[in-house]
Amino acid sequence: MKRATNHLLIIFGASGDLTKRKLIPALYQLYLQKLLPERFAVLGVSRTHLSNDEFRGRMDEFLPQGNEAKAFKQILFYQALAVADPKEYKKLKLRLDELCNGLDIPPNYIFYLSTPPSMYSVIPKNLYEAGLSLSESHFRRLIIEKPFGMDLESAKKLNINLLHYFREKQVYRIDHYLGKETVQNMLVTRFSNGIFEPLWNHNYIDHIKITSAESLGVENRGGYYDHSGALRDMVQNHLLQLVGFVAMEPPGVIEADAIRNETLKVFQALRPIKHDQVENYVIRGQYTKSTINSKIIKGYRDEPGVDKNSRTETFVALKFYIDNWRWAGVPFYIRTGKRLPTRVTEVVVHFKNVPHHLFDSGKNYKPVENQLIIRIQPDEGILLKFGMKTPGAGFNVQTVNMDFHYSSLSGEKIPAAYERLLLDCMQGDATLYTRGDAVEEAWSFVQPILDAWQTNLKIPVYGYPAGTWGPNVADNLITGGHWRYPCKNLSNDGLYCEL
Ligand code: BG6
Repeated sequence: MKRATNHLLIIFGASGDLTKRKLIPALYQLYLQKLLPERFAVLGVSRTHLSNDEFRGRMDEFLPQGNEAKAFKQILFYQALAVADPKEYKKLKLRLDELCNGLDIPPNYIFYLSTPPSMYSVIPKNLYEAGLSLSESHFRRLIIEKPFGMDLESAKKLNINLLHYFREKQVYRIDHYLGKETVQNMLVTRFSNGIFEPLWNHNYIDHIKITSAESLGVENRGGYYDHSGALRDMVQNHLLQLVGFVAMEPPGVIEADAIRNETLKVFQALRPIKHDQVENYVIRGQYTKSTINSKIIKGYRDEPGVDKNSRTETFVALKFYIDNWRWAGVPFYIRTGKRLPTRVTEVVVHFKNVPHHLFDSGKNYKPVENQLIIRIQPDEGILLKFGMKTPGAGFNVQTVNMDFHYSSLSGEKIPAAYERLLLDCMQGDATLYTRGDAVEEAWSFVQPILDAWQTNLKIPVYGYPAGTWGPNVADNLITGGHWRYPCKNLSNDGLYCEL
């Protein structure tokens, strides 16, 4: 792989959690694999006063000890800055010049916004006014973390605002799900095999389910989460992006615009859930106190930073349709929640039954349900369920598993999402970043649900005990069926898995 052009990466919000937990460890992995540019440095920026060495010391928590990490840390620098104040950007400019001159790095900059979202419109403006956002001869890119807006209106405003100061081609909106190896593999599974794509439509697919379950609660993020909820936090972005990859038409080429055009078309075809349909198409829940393995688990409303009367959903399940030729009449189901029995994200494609039941053996006969399960995490892999003859007399059919686990690929390491995304941005490849129009389109789909929840207080927020699969009513969404109850291991399922 060719190395990216020499540049500086400037992280705003560098004293925050994301920097030490995700960004610096991802850069370290790139460093070990010699994928960073030959001349490259990171400038951490935030309000706290720190020296370079203090900043480097703070990164130790998520880096291994040893000489390699020590050498890596020499490319980390720090600048204290009141980022909201335009006057401070002179200081930033001087520091950037100094670093570039001292390290012989051309003034190519990637600005990474890992700050509170209120800064997303302030920092780009200040960068622009300081002459840092545009350059004829060098690249200037801007990475923005989620959340990209809190609703449709704020996302639109944010897009308009950004495009005053940066061009769309310079803006990289992060959705870390797109950085996951297994999410990208959905495109490879679909478009490099001749056997799936012919079946990938309403003629052969009965319905598709996507689950993203987490066993953790809101941890120390109650303050943020209580204003967000599962629909904004997971569905508007990560899970709709998965829908985009599962449902898109084959792009002409694997390139940023080709792929993003196809995702956008999927979002444009999502059938809106109308105000009076919300109660029947969308189920929301909130975890309540329970005991798991003799340990008392707090209810959501008792979490720090959460309103005692909060109606914020920690679980959401919904049913919707994609109104286009390929998916006409095929229901899609999405479910996500915190404090569920296990951590798992997967896409389950349910194929239609055979038209004529040759092996119907009477009272205990259950038609085979062919399912293709694309496991995003953990135990990354793919599982196909199909019918096989039970050995012995007669023609009894049983369902068996054919499974591939990434762990069986020896010598291959699955890169962390941020590793892949940072590297792509360094190389100027926005394929796995979301485009402004698609983000707005995804918001347009969830907005009527948010509006209905806000205005119609009769729509229930169902409680579910921490450690269970969410409110039982979520099963009612699926006509004549139920959710799969996945376990940590891809091939296992069952209502009760590890807690
Ligand atoms: C984040 C959400 O975007 O994604 C979190 O804000 C959630 O609430 C996380 O826990 C899930 O990501 P992953 O990669 O652990 O599935």
